[in-house]
Amino acid sequence: MYLEHLRQEDPEVAACVDDELQRQRDSIELIASENFVSTAVMEAVGSPLTNKYAEGLPGKRYYGGCWAVDKVENLAIERVKRLFGSEFANVQPHSGAQANYAAESVFAKPGDTIMGMDLSNGGHLTHGSKANYSGRLHEVVSYGLDPKTERIDYDDVAAKAEKCHPTLIIAGASAYPRIIDFERFAQIAHDNGAALMVDMAHIAGLVATGAHPSPVPYADVVTSTTHKTLRGTRGGIILWNNPDYTKRLNSAVFPGSQGGPLEHVIAGKAVAFGEALKPEFATYIENVCKNAKALGRGMQSKGLRLVTGGTDNHLLLVDLTPAKDITGRDAEQALERVGITVNKNTIPGEQRSPFVTSGIRVGSAAITTRGFSEEECERVGQLIGKTVFALQNDEGFKIDDVKAEVAQMLARHPLYPELA
Ligand SMILES: Cc1ncc(COP(=O)(O)O)c(C=O)c1O
Repeated sequence: MYLEHLRQEDPEVAACVDDELQRQRDSIELIASENFVSTAVMEAVGSPLTNKYAEGLPGKRYYGGCWAVDKVENLAIERVKRLFGSEFANVQPHSGAQANYAAESVFAKPGDTIMGMDLSNGGHLTHGSKANYSGRLHEVVSYGLDPKTERIDYDDVAAKAEKCHPTLIIAGASAYPRIIDFERFAQIAHDNGAALMVDMAHIAGLVATGAHPSPVPYADVVTSTTHKTLRGTRGGIILWNNPDYTKRLNSAVFPGSQGGPLEHVIAGKAVAFGEALKPEFATYIENVCKNAKALGRGMQSKGLRLVTGGTDNHLLLVDLTPAKDITGRDAEQALERVGITVNKNTIPGEQRSPFVTSGIRVGSAAITTRGFSEEECERVGQLIGKTVFALQNDEGFKIDDVKAEVAQMLARHPLYPELA
C-alpha cells in the first residue's frame, strides 16, 4: 500500500504528503516548470540508494561499497549522453542552480564579465542577477528582447559582446516562448573570445526529441534541470563535448560545489532518461507543443494578449494589460480559486514589481502528462480568459461555474490512480 510504513511511523508527515497529492489531483497544473513523474521514477528516488555516500565519480570514489551505485550512475550518464548526443555528462548536480554554479565557475572567474538574459525579460536568477552568486561574483551585462518583436535581439547581443568582452555568455531562459538560435549565440560568443553556456532547463524535453534545435553541437557547456519538460526527478545535469573541459567541470561539481551525490536521485534521473529515450516520449512532447498552442488560442479568443503573439515551445507568457488594472497577482489568486494553478510573471517592459507583475506564465507539460487533449487545452485557455475578464468587470464573478467545469475536466484525467 502507498505510504504504508510512513502512515504507521509518522502520520503527521504522511498527512502532509496526502495533502500535496490531493492538491495536485485537484488542480489544472499550468506552472511551466512543473511536471508529474512516473511512479517508476518515484520508486527509484524513494529507494535505499539514499543511504549511500559516494563522493567522486563511478570507479573513482572516496568511499567503499560503491559498486551498485556506480552501475546506476553509469546508466544515468550513458542514457543522458545518448538522449542529447553529448560526448560527456555529469549527472550529480543537486539542482539546476547548482549545475549552473559549477559550469559558470569553470568558464568565468570572480570579477570576469558575463552576459545573460535579463531576469525581467525571461532569464533566470543564475544568469547574472544581483540577488544570486552569478551577479555578485561577476560583472554582468544583461541582454533583453527587441521591444517590437519581443524576441531575443541577436544584433544587440553581438553589439554588447563586442563592447564588454565577456568571458562567458549564457543563453537559455525561464520564460521565453520562442525558439532560441543557439548557433547564432555560439557565433557571437566565439567571435568575441567568450565561452557559451546554454541552460536548456525549460526546453530539455523538446531538445531530447528534436522539437527544439539542440544546443549540444554549439555550446561549450550545456546545463539543465531534469524535472521540467524532461519529466524526471528534481535535479541538474551538465553536458559537454570537449575532453579538455572534463576534469574542470567534474571537479567544479565535486569537490567544487557539492559533497556526496544523491544516488537515489541519480537513479530517478536514470529512469527518466530511459523513459525519454522511448518513442512514446516524442509523442508526448509533440502533444506538449500542440497543447501549448491550444491554450494560447483559447486565451486569445477571450481577448488576452500573448507575448510574441504565440509559442514555439511548452510555455506562454500572457500579457494581462487588455484586462485593465488586473495584475499577475490578481490573476494567479483568482485562478487558484477556480482550480487552475499558474504563476504571475513579469512581461517585457514590465512596470510593476516582480511580486505584482502584469502577466502570467502558463505551461502545458504537466497537463499533457495528465492526458489533456488539444480541445480541452483550448477550453482551459478560454476559462483563464473568462476568469481574468470577469475579475476586471467585477461582474459577480461566477466562480462556481468555472470551478465545476475544471473539476469535470480533472475527473476525466485521474492523477496517479495507482497511488490509493
Ligand atoms: C532556466 C532555468 N535554469 C535553472 C533553474 C534552476 O533550477 P533549480 O530550481 O533546480 O535550481 C530554473 C528553475 O526554474 C530555470 O528556469
